[in-house]
Amino acid sequence: MIIENLKLIGEKTLTEVAEASTLATLDEVRVRVLGKKGALSEILKGLGSASPAERPVIGAAANEWKKKLETALDERKVSLEQIVLDAKIRDERSDVSLPSRMPHRGSLHPITQTTRKLVKIFSRIGFDLNTGPEIESEYLNFDAVNIPADHPARDMQDTFFAGPGVVLRTHTTPVQIRTMKSEKWPVRILSPGAVYRNDSDATHSPMFHQIEGLWIDRGVTMSDLKGTLSFFARELFGSETKIRLRPSYFPFVEPGAEVDVSCFLCRLKISPTCKVCRGSGWIEILGAGMVHPRLFEAVGYGDAYLREGLTGFAFGIGIERVAMLLHEIPDLRLMYDGDVRFLSQF
Ligand code: DAH
Repeated sequence: MIIENLKLIGEKTLTEVAEASTLATLDEVRVRVLGKKGALSEILKGLGSASPAERPVIGAAANEWKKKLETALDERKVSLEQIVLDAKIRDERSDVSLPSRMPHRGSLHPITQTTRKLVKIFSRIGFDLNTGPEIESEYLNFDAVNIPADHPARDMQDTFFAGPGVVLRTHTTPVQIRTMKSEKWPVRILSPGAVYRNDSDATHSPMFHQIEGLWIDRGVTMSDLKGTLSFFARELFGSETKIRLRPSYFPFVEPGAEVDVSCFLCRLKISPTCKVCRGSGWIEILGAGMVHPRLFEAVGYGDAYLREGLTGFAFGIGIERVAMLLHEIPDLRLMYDGDVRFLSQF
């Protein structure tokens, strides 16, 4: 009787195992038959009431079924797992045509971009790059470029002193002296770099950038200066750009001029609402002039100036100012805050 029951349960279970289509159903079958309170265990519990002669026979049959079912369950489990894996491999195939996630890329700072732009323009007409130190002697920053000791520009209010006779350069003009002292004329150089002044508001920063230009040769004239700057202005702001020179004073040039470019936004139509020129039609962008003979004396070019017709022109451009004009940046301080929302626009 019990043997028959065993056979019945065993065969039914084998069918259920074969038909189980998911791992969960299979597990449910295993628990129902082989679990602690499962059908097979229940039969074995009733073994006590069987006769001593029957007991080993039933026991052996029950163990045999148990092994048989366990094997069947294991095999089915392996094949169901394989089915699940196959489905996963099929469905989760990666789509190689999907665009990949882009790594975040930084960008060049607007000051660096503007500097490179200016250097590129001047390098096309033969200006070589030269740089000088940011910590400069008071002599080269001031005396050698004709700014005497009693000149207001040397005031402690404007200049950062780094030690006795040593300053953070207040302009790139001392590079003119360094270049002429270390090289024989002709020279034609461009020198970008940071400069420092004790000043801070929406249009002034204690550290900012300039580009100094210098061209020294026999017979260099004011019209060469005008032609050079006119080329520069057209390259930077567009081919219709005009320039105008207004007489001005800088100790290291004579004559000196402030140079304006025609407004690249309203194009000299002189709109009173123009954001860039505010209705004047012109924008001041740099200072320039013919190199003062005192600079030639300071570097040992004095003789050539007097006897060989050596002359030259120089100019100084504020890089931040150009960057602000080109990109319509309203406040200088934005350029030093390091705010990624601002910087990522460039
Ligand atoms: N050094 C002047 C400044 O910092 C700029 C400048 C003006 C440079 C005229 C020059 C120049 O070479 O000729 O404001």
